[in-house]
Parts: sequence; structure tokens; C-alpha cells
Amino acid sequence: MDAPAPLFAARHLTKRYGAATVVNDLSFEIAPGECLGVIGPNGAGKTTTVRMCLGQTEPDSGEVTAMGLSLPQDAMAIKARLGVVTQFDTLDPDFTCQENLLVYGRYFGLPARQVRERIPRLLEFAALTHKAQARPAELSGGMRRRLSLARALVNDPALLVLDEPTTGLDPQARHLMWERLQLLLQQGKSILLTTHFMDEAERLCHRLLVMDQGRKIAEGRPRDLIASHLEPDVVEAYGQGALDLVDSPLRAHAARVEVSGETVFFYTQDARALLQALSNRPGLRTLHRPANLEDLFLKLTGRQIREEA
Ligand SMILES: Nc1ncnc2c1ncn2[C@@H]1O[C@H](COP(=O)(O)OP(=O)(O)OP(=O)(O)O)[C@@H](O)[C@H]1O
Ligand SMILES: [Mg+2]
Repeated sequence: MDAPAPLFAARHLTKRYGAATVVNDLSFEIAPGECLGVIGPNGAGKTTTVRMCLGQTEPDSGEVTAMGLSLPQDAMAIKARLGVVTQFDTLDPDFTCQENLLVYGRYFGLPARQVRERIPRLLEFAALTHKAQARPAELSGGMRRRLSLARALVNDPALLVLDEPTTGLDPQARHLMWERLQLLLQQGKSILLTTHFMDEAERLCHRLLVMDQGRKIAEGRPRDLIASHLEPDVVEAYGQGALDLVDSPLRAHAARVEVSGETVFFYTQDARALLQALSNRPGLRTLHRPANLEDLFLKLTGRQIREEA
């Protein structure tokens, strides 16, 4: 049987600014009900990709189709089926929470009565009922992000496009956002999400696309990506004498050794022998844990922060 038609497809998207190719031949699909995460270092091209998917930035080449429609000719019809939360909030500072939702709904051409009916549920969903009359400046960062999410839902979209929806939020606010996004997935909505939080990517996303310097460098389910790129066990060593371990015979216990700051990371199939060898070293601290998405990210994109051109 054929796989169901993708809800959304980007094919061979490329964007150049001057001499720099910031998105380079990028293709991906989103299935109905799927959450696709896009991860990559600062400047990797995530927001540029999102903007091309929304018809806000014109690609130099490539195409975007959504729900059987194509950009740019069907831009209005596609936008009517999408909910968007941009990287930086674009709430109207002069309007209350309630008015922000109403005005945005009207922008989609929805009748005022219909939007008014939806507002209490949207405010409740965003845990902002008590702030209905507050203006964005009177909200916390987490509340503003939730209002942006509520606003993105005003037109009951099939696909939500969320550019770093939880950046700047404290752990509690982030957990609340995750819970809300899980609810939306349970309701059958699809999500395209960018994030710098690897736990968020692992928890929420069915599939991940890893970008670096405009290119797709890996794609797959979080667990599969970890299993295919990394040894299962990680031993972190830090404290007194840690950096001396890098060139010591203990290195033989690990398939790969990385250094980040003052911590040495040993990636290994079997941590027992290594942990045994590292025991009884006063001042040296060790942490044994399974490999995770952060390890994958660092392996694929490098541990050093790159200076952008
Ligand atoms: N309008 C523009 N004009 C020129 N260069 C741009 C423009 N928009 C983005 N860029 C460049 O394109 C590259 C990718 O930027 P983009 O915002 O897509 O990255 P990102 O992956 O979203 O990064 P972050 O994680 O910091 O949000 C960067 O080098 C950026 O400077
Ligand atoms: Mg960005």
C-alpha cells in the first residue's frame, strides 16, 4: 500500500544572501499527525527554512507544497490552514490578550462572532483566562509564548509551525508548553518545530532533521539517530586530572573521546572497565549515562561555537 500523502513537503529549498548559501538543497516532508523537529546550531538556517515554508521568504530555488496546494500561488489558502509562532513574539502591544486573538482571527477573515466564541477556550488552553484583559507587556515571557500559541490556533490550523516556542522559558513554563503541544498532537494536528532544547526535541518530535550550515546532515527518529551515530554509553570525567586522561592508555576503553571545556567524554560500548579504571582517583568526578540527543548534536555539528561569517 502507498504511504499516505504528506501533509507538507519542502523540496530542494535553497536560499542565498549575497555570496552565502544559508539553506542548501533542503528537502523534507511532514506526515499528517507528525511532529517534525528541526535542530541545528545558531545560524544553521532554521528560521530561514521556516520562513520559506510560510511564504515569507522567497526561495532561490525549490518548492513548497501543503495540503495539495503550492507556494507561492496558493499562499493565502495555505496560510489559512497553518498556525504560526515566530521566533520572536509579534503580539500587538496595544491590544489585550483577548483583543490580540480577536484581531488575528479577523485577519483570517473569520466572522467576529465565531472568533469571540473561540476565545474563552483558547485562553483556557493557554492558561491565560485570568489575563484576558492584560496587555502583552504585563505578561511574563512564558505567558506571551502561550498567547502566541493560542493566537496560532485561532483558525483551527492543520499544521502548526513553531520557531523556538520555548526559548527563554523557565523549566515549569516549558513543561506546560510541552503538555499543550502534546495535547494538540493528540488532537491530530501536525507540528513543525525548531528548538535548541534536545530534551524537547527527543520528547515531542516523532522525527528530527538536523541542519548545519544550511544543509540537512541527518534525519530520523530521535532514538534511531542516537543508536545509529553513537556508542550506547557515555562516561563524563571532570575535575582533577580529567584532561590528562585524553592521552592516557585509558583511551583504549572508549571508541571515541571528546573534550568540551574541562570535561572529557568517553563514548563506549561497555563502560564497566573504564569506570573501574577511573575509580579511586581522588579529585576526579565521573558521570555514567546513556548517550542522548545532545551527544548526537555535538557529534554532528561540532563542540566548538562557530564564529559566524
Ligand atoms: N534577511 C537576511 N539577510 C541576510 N542574511 C540573513 C538574513 N536572514 C538570515 N540571514 C543569515 O542566514 C543565516 C541563517 O539564519 P537563520 O536565522 O535561518 O538561522 P537559525 O538556524 O534560525 O539560527 P538561530 O538558531 O540563531 O535562530 C545566518 O547566517 C543569518 O545571518
Ligand atoms: Mg532561528
